[in-house]
Amino acid sequence: MSSDEESPQPSSSSSAPLDSHYIGRREDIVRAGRVTRQLNGCRDVLVLHHQGQIYALDMRCYHAGGGLQHGDIEEFNGRLCIVCPWHKYKITLAEGEGMYQAVDNPTVRPLKTQWRSKGVKQRVHQVTELSGDVYVTLNTSPEDIESDRYQTDKYRTKPNTS
Ligand code: FES
Repeated sequence: MSSDEESPQPSSSSSAPLDSHYIGRREDIVRAGRVTRQLNGCRDVLVLHHQGQIYALDMRCYHAGGGLQHGDIEEFNGRLCIVCPWHKYKITLAEGEGMYQAVDNPTVRPLKTQWRSKGVKQRVHQVTELSGDVYVTLNTSPEDIESDRYQTDKYRTKPNTS
């Protein structure tokens, strides 16, 4: 397990996953709803609780860097998404897929639309719970994921307002 200066310490002695970061007690995350952490001194991550589940994903939206910690959570086509407060992009909580509404045939009225996926756009991270302690293991897969570009000092120091 890695430790982060700003993070509290786990209360249990259970063995945490290798390279994981302690986020906090589950009950505290549930109470707060959302917490943000900078992990490894370079990755800003949003950890949130929704309907009994804890999710972790890059904090800034893949579209233009909007702060997802201020986004609403809604279901689209049966998939839970966080809605970015800046331009309302929808991102699935579990996979980080960008969702959009596609028009079946633009020449046919009334228009019929369907929710479709653009693929993974937001990097999501693994959450592990051990004896009430919550850990996040960063997803370090080598593929380029669009939210990666907002994990730099340039965006970190930019005011995150809509
Ligand atoms: S920055 Fe998130 S939708 Fe534009």
